[in-house]
Amino acid sequence: MVDRTPRPPPYTCSIVHAYRVDLRSDTVTKPSAAMRKAMAEAEVGDDWFGDDPTVSRLQDRAAEVMGKEAALYVPTGTMANQIGLRLHFRGPGHLVVAESRAHVATTEVMSSAALSGIAFRTVVGDARGRMSAEQVAAALLPDEPYDVEVIDLIAVENTHGHAGGTVMSVEDLRAIRKVAGEAGLPIHLDGARIFNAAVAAGCDVTEWTREADTMMFCVSKGLGAPIGSLVCGPAELIREARRLKILFGGAWRQAGIMAAAGLIALEEGPKRLHEDHARARRLAEGIGEVFPGAIDSSAVETNMVYVDTEAVGMRPLEAVRRLEEQGVGATLVSGKVRMVTHVDISDEDIETAIAAWREISRVAREEAG
Ligand SMILES: Cc1ncc(COP(=O)(O)O)c(C=O)c1O
Repeated sequence: MVDRTPRPPPYTCSIVHAYRVDLRSDTVTKPSAAMRKAMAEAEVGDDWFGDDPTVSRLQDRAAEVMGKEAALYVPTGTMANQIGLRLHFRGPGHLVVAESRAHVATTEVMSSAALSGIAFRTVVGDARGRMSAEQVAAALLPDEPYDVEVIDLIAVENTHGHAGGTVMSVEDLRAIRKVAGEAGLPIHLDGARIFNAAVAAGCDVTEWTREADTMMFCVSKGLGAPIGSLVCGPAELIREARRLKILFGGAWRQAGIMAAAGLIALEEGPKRLHEDHARARRLAEGIGEVFPGAIDSSAVETNMVYVDTEAVGMRPLEAVRRLEEQGVGATLVSGKVRMVTHVDISDEDIETAIAAWREISRVAREEAG
């Protein structure tokens, strides 16, 4: 049963919480002392004019790390994706193929419609959000006789957030790339958490990025920067991306202050992601002991833990509320309780979160009599 209880929007909810342990997302991290120092000392220009030296350094470094010709620094992952999609999109009435739970086709679906007139043809992947090359090939076939050449782009996501922070295998992406190539279609990779994927798979990010025409990644998630994402691709497309960034209202002037933290995130962030992954696994195991049947800890591949509280008779929103009462922040995503580990979460915090789940279980048993 899907919990349809209306949720209060985040900006009005119980809200001014001081979470003891904030596992709502890896976006909630606070900048490190080194980041704050770099931000205070950052050399800046005006990003509208394209002359902020710290932004340029971050863009050059991002392009190098991703193995692309150029990169563009933008305020959010959503803007990065919206620019990435729009770069390949030929106009309203055309479609983008994506997995049904992909961020671009769920959380951002209205942004795509509002900003660019993009609609999606979605493919239902497996439990881990994997869509096969055969499924993608089938999605490219016309539905109607006149429905030819209406697909402009294939969008993929790695790690796949709504499917559990799962890693897309390089082989799967290569196979999709082959299908795309045969159809003459580009690929955009939502790599918001591409470094989590690389750490989990034990390979370099370029294994995936080389199979995509454009890609984006966020420095503001697991890497720990306060703000910012980068769109990467061929220089010619990134020139147009710069125009789109201004069009979408994203030319953020003295952005070097943020880029300074982004540079540290990009260099240092990936080195410690394995710790987040280990903590997510420990959290999943701990919850599994409290609520067997609510979680498959072997499905935890990176820094996300999804708990199916419905499976143990508890509405997910109720679980989120009860966790909140104990100072533990979690969110409701795809009908499950989601918790995400990050740089500000320690081993002790994980044990606190597990203890909160234990308390929820105790209260629930008590209430059930
Ligand atoms: C996979 C994925 N892509 C894109 C985004 C958008 O990033 P932002 O919140 O910075 O707009 C998110 C946000 O969580 C995400 O999880």
